[in-house]
Amino acid sequence: MSSDRLIIFDTTLRDGEQSPGASMNKDEKVRIARSLERMKVDVIEAGFPVASPGDFESVQAVAQAVSESTVCGLARALDLDIDRAGEALKGAASARIHTFIATSPIHMKMKLRMEPDQVLEQAVRAVARARKYTDDVEFSPEDAGRSELDFLCQVLEAVIDAGATTVNIPDTVGYNLPHQFGELMRQLIERVPNADKAVFSVHCHNDLGLAVANSLSAVLNGARQVECTINGLGERAGNASLEEVVMSVRTRRDIFSCETRLDTTQIVPVSRLVAGITGFPVQPNKAIVGANAFAHESGIHQDGVLKSRETYEIMRAQDVGWSDNRIVLGKHSGRNALRSRLEELGISFESEEALNEAFSRFKILADKKHEIFDEDLQALVTEASLDAVNEQFKLVSLKVCSETGETPNAAITLNIDGVEHSASAQGSGPVDAAFKAIEAIVDSGTGLQLYSVSNITSGTDAQGEVTVRLEKAGHIVNGQGADTDIVIASARAYLNALNKIIRPDGRAHPQLGDV
Ligand code: KIV
Ligand code: ZN
Repeated sequence: MSSDRLIIFDTTLRDGEQSPGASMNKDEKVRIARSLERMKVDVIEAGFPVASPGDFESVQAVAQAVSESTVCGLARALDLDIDRAGEALKGAASARIHTFIATSPIHMKMKLRMEPDQVLEQAVRAVARARKYTDDVEFSPEDAGRSELDFLCQVLEAVIDAGATTVNIPDTVGYNLPHQFGELMRQLIERVPNADKAVFSVHCHNDLGLAVANSLSAVLNGARQVECTINGLGERAGNASLEEVVMSVRTRRDIFSCETRLDTTQIVPVSRLVAGITGFPVQPNKAIVGANAFAHESGIHQDGVLKSRETYEIMRAQDVGWSDNRIVLGKHSGRNALRSRLEELGISFESEEALNEAFSRFKILADKKHEIFDEDLQALVTEASLDAVNEQFKLVSLKVCSETGETPNAAITLNIDGVEHSASAQGSGPVDAAFKAIEAIVDSGTGLQLYSVSNITSGTDAQGEVTVRLEKAGHIVNGQGADTDIVIASARAYLNALNKIIRPDGRAHPQLGDV
């Protein structure tokens, strides 16, 4: 690999999933992984296999589904974690194990209760064990951004000697400032004697809103891998956003002496896919992928752009995948047309039955909405996979009355484990009435933390995509639903969240608990 290549390591499926409520099921992870592969992401961190049987199976499924990107599994510096990661990745066309242990004084003393020499020994042992499964081993000194430089150098030299081929420098708590973090990267590369035997990587969190700036500063100082996530999803305030890192490096070729191999025209479709699946909508003013990122409101700007695009635009909207809504299918399209368009979007079906199910959903939608866009198809498949987890509570029917001067009323029937239950309720609006009617049956004891609606495409016949965030005893989930009728979409989103909250995934968090 030439030294001017910047490796893009996407951790949406692992660190991104650590955002409260962003958990994804196996099929959703495979869909996202395939779209990341299509975008030419170099490494996909697919999960933390030891966390739960579900995480193990997801990493395994991604490892089987993806062949053009390296698939990576996370492991603490523990034998069991490394063995589970090695097993989950068996059969991958290209597999990486990413092992980590904390090196900052506060984490070693308070979290691990270990002495520095024990941490060093355990790091080396973990890397050597991971090398038994694959030649591609990454090591991270967790909380490197608050670790002592001499100790970091010592640990990195030792793990590279033990066989680590990538060493990743995380700013785990998002504490660093760009000039400081760049300097840390420069010093590490200069002082670690065997630095030339490994790729130096960067992994920044966004607690001070500096994850992208810190990552870019590290790249300017020699890092040749960036760990990032779609839409900047991730633990707490999130990780560095992939689209911002990639487009900064590409747009400012005059400053960066490295280049990614990413197909940037996939950025917006992948961003939408991740937002739809996780239920974390993208804010309109988000760089690159926000709805307003290329919209010019002021007359002066509009006039300038019409005369010469470069007056106010530093990137072309088409280069990051913004396209005019294109009608792809309609009411008269057949099964094969649906199958081939979905395949072009990276969605394939394991069985004819699954395709038939998608086709009947498509027909229902096409009857209500005559023009079907790619975004509608993505939402349709997301809805179908949501229904697969909607095992306990299913929507049978919903009738809402809303009239000027009257209190809105909703009458709902749910199927709960095969038995139908009905209730009606009044509310301040039709959505409120529908949620109250659901609660009259379920009495879930949950608190509503967020309710948001966005349109999937434009026009008054567009589908509304609803996100509902529920909380119960500190456990947070996001539910999604889409329909041309936003009250039905809202009820579906609420039920989706309820189904998730009553079946907590019971997975371990990689960065909590003892090593
Ligand atoms: O933020 C962090 O330190 C991590 C490590 C596991 C790399 O996510
Ligand atoms: Zn992280």
